Amino acid sequence: MASHQSVFKDETKLDINYVPRHLPHREKEYYLLMEFFNYLIQFPGKMSQRIIITGDVGTGKTALAQRFGTDITSEAKRQRINLHYVHVNCREYRGKFFLVMQHVLATFQPTFPKRGYSAEELLKVLLQILEEENAYLILTLDEFDAIIEHEGSETVYKLTRLQELRAIEQQRISLIFIMRDLKITEKIDASARSTMQHNVIKLEKYQKSQLIDILNERVTMAFAPLAVSEDVINLIADLGASESGNARFAIELLWRAGKYADAEKLESVTPECVRKAVSSIIPTARKSELASLRLHEKLFLLGIARFFKENKNAYATLSEIEQMYAVVCEEFGEQPHSHTQLWKYAQFLSALGILKTEVTATSTRGRATRLSLPAISAYELEKELSASMERR
Ligand SMILES: Nc1ncnc2c1ncn2[C@@H]1O[C@H](COP(=O)(O)OP(=O)(O)O)[C@@H](O)[C@H]1O
Ligand SMILES: [Mg+2]
Repeated sequence: MASHQSVFKDETKLDINYVPRHLPHREKEYYLLMEFFNYLIQFPGKMSQRIIITGDVGTGKTALAQRFGTDITSEAKRQRINLHYVHVNCREYRGKFFLVMQHVLATFQPTFPKRGYSAEELLKVLLQILEEENAYLILTLDEFDAIIEHEGSETVYKLTRLQELRAIEQQRISLIFIMRDLKITEKIDASARSTMQHNVIKLEKYQKSQLIDILNERVTMAFAPLAVSEDVINLIADLGASESGNARFAIELLWRAGKYADAEKLESVTPECVRKAVSSIIPTARKSELASLRLHEKLFLLGIARFFKENKNAYATLSEIEQMYAVVCEEFGEQPHSHTQLWKYAQFLSALGILKTEVTATSTRGRATRLSLPAISAYELEKELSASMERR
């Protein structure tokens, strides 16, 4: 027997630290950043920038800044400008500005002694090095929330006034602050705040269709041809969209679903792989919720679980589920409830977050309800429901 071929072509493209060359749906923000720093490339030293990038988790803040940083340094190099881009995650340094500065300095002088200097002294040394090397720095302080929480206004002052630390004509350091929520800046006093908020780039949550584009690009880079169907991408994008437009969640799901496909030696990623991936990410504390459902809600849900266990489709119509439900009712010696009632069960289970229902246009009958089971493995669901019916 031939050995199993992985569904992946290059798994590293799904790594959390991988920054793609092109960020779909962040083109506008990317060009805005380039625009802000254009002057710096044209007239280095004449001015410095201060930018805030803000947006929810997984909206691409870190990726955008890093893409920009890499691109602007190579552009500067072409123009023979000695520009450095340094990206620090402040939370990794527990919001201690002093530790952040140590790290920044180490990127210029790895042997610089770690002890014996205050944050302010480190800043001065940094400026001195930049002077000596005739270099410029774009410093991105990612998760800057951590610094504000830990240190407050004074550090923000130090940073934004740093050009005044020395009597120099050349502006050497530009700053990009990344934070989830601008509200956090309310914790610092108004004058420190005003030194920060010059240009704010707000990244909105991704819509489902945008997540589809992002996922499609990653699928092409990371998976073997035909390993991931359109339906599966659709399902993952749905989940990412309901997880507040979070691209990180969507990409992690894609990766995990691929891992499940490989573990089961499948040729492609199935909707069931996605469901397993979800339930492995969100520990579904749903057992008591399932146990508390009424009998026909359980029978209906069991029909759904069986349908998705036996079918490779990501979506089912209500009538397809109705047929499965009828079989389940027969098995349990129950009289099936009406179509209208099933529709109500579907709405209820969808409100609980167990199912997803949506109305779609069909070519023949106008509109139909389609169902998907985005967050629970059909196999696990059947097992759990069967167990709870036996206990009855
Ligand atoms: N527009 C995009 N195109 C491609 N990948 C993206 C895009 N936005 C985010 N990602 C990816 O999603 C994940 C989360 O993005 P990240 O920049 O870490 O979000 P944030 O810093 O806002 O929490 C990363 O793997 C990143 O590469
Ligand atoms: Mg980030």
